[in-house]
Amino acid sequence: MTNALTHKNRVLEHLGCRYPIVQAPMGWIARSQLASAVSNAGGFGVIETSSGEVENCAAEIKKMPELTDKPFGINLPLLFLRDRQMIDLVIASGVTFVTTSAGDPSKYVGVLKEAGITVYHAVPSVAGALKAAQAGVDGLVVEGTEGGGFKAPLEVGLHVLIQAIRNQTDLPIIAAGGIVDGIGMASAFAAGAEGIQMGTRFVSSAESPVHQNFKDSIIESDENGTWILNKTARPCIRALKTDLTREINAAGVMDMSALKGIKNLYFGGDMNAAPALAGQSVGLIDTVKTAKQIIDETITEFNTVCARMATQTF
Ligand SMILES: Cc1cc2nc3c(=O)[nH]c(=O)nc-3n(C[C@H](O)[C@H](O)[C@H](O)COP(=O)(O)O)c2cc1C
Repeated sequence: MTNALTHKNRVLEHLGCRYPIVQAPMGWIARSQLASAVSNAGGFGVIETSSGEVENCAAEIKKMPELTDKPFGINLPLLFLRDRQMIDLVIASGVTFVTTSAGDPSKYVGVLKEAGITVYHAVPSVAGALKAAQAGVDGLVVEGTEGGGFKAPLEVGLHVLIQAIRNQTDLPIIAAGGIVDGIGMASAFAAGAEGIQMGTRFVSSAESPVHQNFKDSIIESDENGTWILNKTARPCIRALKTDLTREINAAGVMDMSALKGIKNLYFGGDMNAAPALAGQSVGLIDTVKTAKQIIDETITEFNTVCARMATQTF
């Protein structure tokens, strides 16, 4: 079968890996064990820095070349950067691809690009995309409301968002939110993306370091298993429906301190220690798979779907 990805793909050129499948940055989770498994399988592993643990993140970045000879990237959550420490760490690491999220990219895009780094900024809106384009980013991670994690309270679905952004800018797009397989990838490409990013799917992968309780909760949840919380304050998040998030939903507001127990959830398995960040795609995940299985199956299905759709001309 012809590989549907043999045509020019700008995201693939920027990533330098085999498949335009990016593993989402996720505080504490997106570390070398998961990121190296994704890179070794031909995808693009990303190391998080949103945990704010500079020394641990530095150690994880240092471990990567021991675990993979394939490219990987780093994420910088701009809102949480207290000083230039993380930026200097990223520049010194020698990586050539960075995603920035949560904040205004204009402050750091110049210094990163001067260091020879390609920068994609995560956006939840057309306005955010235009601002990022103005700041000089090389591409966008377009995050639909379906996805897990910190959200804009706007609740625009991925398909409308990609198309609305594509109508205004030609920047390469990595689509994120609700994607777990080749069907999701093909539909994102149909809308105008040249790459995909998966978070929830990789949280529930074999190489994800989170407690089995979190993986089981994702597997057991259906497509109504998450909700957006805290729309009128920060941080607005999408998380699993649990006893804790039912309380937060009833209260209507939550502050950052609600996330204090997140390590206890991720690694201790206490599903009510903090909101369990996850996306609507929990409804499409029914088993733990290795990163290689996820990537191989996604690409095979993408190629099959594209070939099938090529016969559907009217
Ligand atoms: C558990 C979890 C933690 C996340 N943490 C971060 C983060 O630290 N920084 C970030 O930019 N995005 C974070 N995200 C959002 C992802 O980058 C991505 O946009 C999202 O997971 C895509 O949607 P999906 O979960 O449906 O795949 C997180 C998502 C999840 C599920």
